[in-house]
Amino acid sequence: MLDPSAVTDELRARVRAELPEVEEIRDPELAAKVVEAWALALASSSFDAIAEIEPSGNPGVNTLKRGSQTDHIRGVTRMAMALADQLCGLLPDLRIDRDIVIAGGLCHDVGKPWEFDPENRRRWEGGPRRAGLPSIRHPAFGVHVCLTVGLPEEVAHCAAAHSGEGELLVRSLENTIVHHADYAFWGICRAGDLLKPESLAELKVRH
Ligand SMILES: [Fe+2]
Repeated sequence: MLDPSAVTDELRARVRAELPEVEEIRDPELAAKVVEAWALALASSSFDAIAEIEPSGNPGVNTLKRGSQTDHIRGVTRMAMALADQLCGLLPDLRIDRDIVIAGGLCHDVGKPWEFDPENRRRWEGGPRRAGLPSIRHPAFGVHVCLTVGLPEEVAHCAAAHSGEGELLVRSLENTIVHHADYAFWGICRAGDLLKPESLAELKVRH
């Protein structure tokens, strides 16, 4: 499933260019692992860039009329950073790890190259009772990617529990911020008429 030998420096450079917010992470080792996570997820999929992934919360659900998946990843990360910075300025007792907020925002959907991969979709839709549809949702596959590249459990947790899966456990402070930024992104895009009407999630929002 994951193929570390397929990761190239060209792909790492493309990820850095697609996600400039990586530069906001103070710990260079953590920043490099965020880049590695996306490079590995892409290298193991049919996609060569994050921008090639359908700009949706789930395949076919909450799809941007215009723009790309990078707009979602960057938008969530920027909102999460703003929430953290604004609240820390107001509530000094709040102890937020800013690097984890940024890395968590950037990696929360790192499992999407797997769940959105057209080859995987064809296989799952051709026989949903064989391995499931999808076999593994992007939050769970994102954990696989994060832990494979050595990201800390705090970041893997943001992939694991930013969405509906997070209702089954207690979210960390940083993941609570990422989770709200993620849901806010789709809610605001919907209110701003940026989503394709036929893709609206209605009551089944799980991104
Ligand atoms: Fe998301």
